[in-house]
Amino acid sequence: MALLDDIDEVLIPEEVLQARIRELGPAISKDYNGKEPLLVGILTGAVLFVSDLLRQISISCQLDFIATSSYGAKTESSGIVRILKDLEQSIEGRHVIIVDDIIDTGFTMDYLLETLKARYPASLKVCALLDKVPRRLRHVPIDYRGFEIPDKFVVGYGLDYGGRYRNLPFICVLKPEIYGQEPGMGGAPAIRHAPFGQPARVVR
Ligand code: IMP
Ligand code: MG
Repeated sequence: MALLDDIDEVLIPEEVLQARIRELGPAISKDYNGKEPLLVGILTGAVLFVSDLLRQISISCQLDFIATSSYGAKTESSGIVRILKDLEQSIEGRHVIIVDDIIDTGFTMDYLLETLKARYPASLKVCALLDKVPRRLRHVPIDYRGFEIPDKFVVGYGLDYGGRYRNLPFICVLKPEIYGQEPGMGGAPAIRHAPFGQPARVVR
C-alpha cells in the first residue's frame, strides 16, 4: 500500500520538523545544564520525536517511557486516563520532562502532570511537538513547544490513524475519504472532534 497516495496536505515538512528539534534540544541542554534530566516519552506517538530530540541534547540525560490510554465515550469528556505501562524507575528528586507528540484536549497531560507530581520529582516540565490549541479543554503549561497547529486530525512522525501512518517522516492530513474507512473505527477523527459532551471515541 502506498501511504503517499492517502495524503491530502503536508502541514509540517521533515526539514522544518528537524530544524525545530535542533532548536529544542539545545534549549533543554542549556536549561538543564548540571541537572541530568529524565525524559519521559509517552507511548506510542512520541517515540519518533523523543528519539530525535534525545540526539539533539548535549548534556547527560536519561530516557523512560509511560503508556496511557483512555476509555471510549465518556473518557474524553470526563478526562479519565489510565496508565497502561508505568515508568521503570522512581522519579523522586529527578528533573523530569514529559515528552509527547501532541496536546489535544489536554486531558492526558493534565492527568500525567498530577500523577507524576505526586511522586515528588525535583521539577516537572512538558515538551510537546504539536499544540492543537483550538481543542484545549484543560490548561496545560507547555514549557517546550514545537509547533501550534489548527484543529485538523494529523498523522505522521509517530502520530497514527488506526495504528497506521506513524512511519511518515512529516506531519500531514489524510484525504477526507480515508478517515472513517477503518472498520470498527467509526470515523475516529470526526467523532474525536465532536463537540464537547457528545460521545467521543479515543484511539491512541
Ligand atoms: P489529549 O488527552 O486529548 O490531549 O490527547 C492527546 C493524545 O491524543 C495524543 O498524545 C495523541 O496520541 C492523540 N491525538 C490527539 N490529536 C491527534 C491527531 O490529530 N492525530 C493523531 N493523534 C492525536
Ligand atoms: Mg499520544
